[in-house]
Amino acid sequence: MFYETAKGDHGLPHNPFKACVVPRPIGWITSIDGEGRVNLAPYSFFNAVASDPPMVMFATNGRKAGEGRDKDSLANVAETGAFVTNLVTWDLKEQMVLTSAPLPHGEAENDLAGLTLAPSRMIAPPRVAKAPINLECKLWRIVELPGGAAGERNTMVLGEVVGVHIADGIIVDGLVNLSLCKPVARLGYLQYAAAETLFDMKRPPGGG
Ligand SMILES: Cc1cc2nc3c(=O)[nH]c(=O)nc-3n(C[C@H](O)[C@H](O)[C@H](O)COP(=O)(O)O)c2cc1C
Repeated sequence: MFYETAKGDHGLPHNPFKACVVPRPIGWITSIDGEGRVNLAPYSFFNAVASDPPMVMFATNGRKAGEGRDKDSLANVAETGAFVTNLVTWDLKEQMVLTSAPLPHGEAENDLAGLTLAPSRMIAPPRVAKAPINLECKLWRIVELPGGAAGERNTMVLGEVVGVHIADGIIVDGLVNLSLCKPVARLGYLQYAAAETLFDMKRPPGGG
């Protein structure tokens, strides 16, 4: 099949686009507003985009459900200039989904999910204590993306990673051993995948 995105003529019951860029890592973003109130939410339009200096991005689509304003993660990062990305693992998957609830601004999703937070070192927003990897990020730029058909705002938030926490328990022989924590990724629709089949491949000589 083929469809033109502008026409949306895929003929399927649901838009298949998000099932076509997979698996997507999930940036589980902690941020704070100007009054120090914590927010936690998952974003699967998320990735690392450079390694020196290390940079990550997450993208926000649309407005907060039922309210005509930006999602809290975007509003907070725009206001206070920093965020943490927390790795979602098999053990944390249910709590991650709970934190996607559109709570009123200022209400903490981590409380809803019964998650303990730990302080960051370089920035003010805290991190999810149980997540085995946390990246402390300073806002670099918010890029405006084309808006949706309904005039919804889409943005890409780019941050420079200034501090990295890795749980000692997943470092084996000097390498981060991801089979010990099974990172969870987003697929299409309501589907997820856990990274369980890990394998190595050598690159051709000269491959950078
Ligand atoms: C696994 C998962 C991935 C998500 N990815 C995104 C995303 O990339 N962009 C987005 O705008 N919303 C995404 N959402 C929805 C947000 O998490 C949801 O709108 C949330 O209420 C936003 O919270 P905030 O207003 O506290 O930032 C995702 C939800 C889930 C469960």
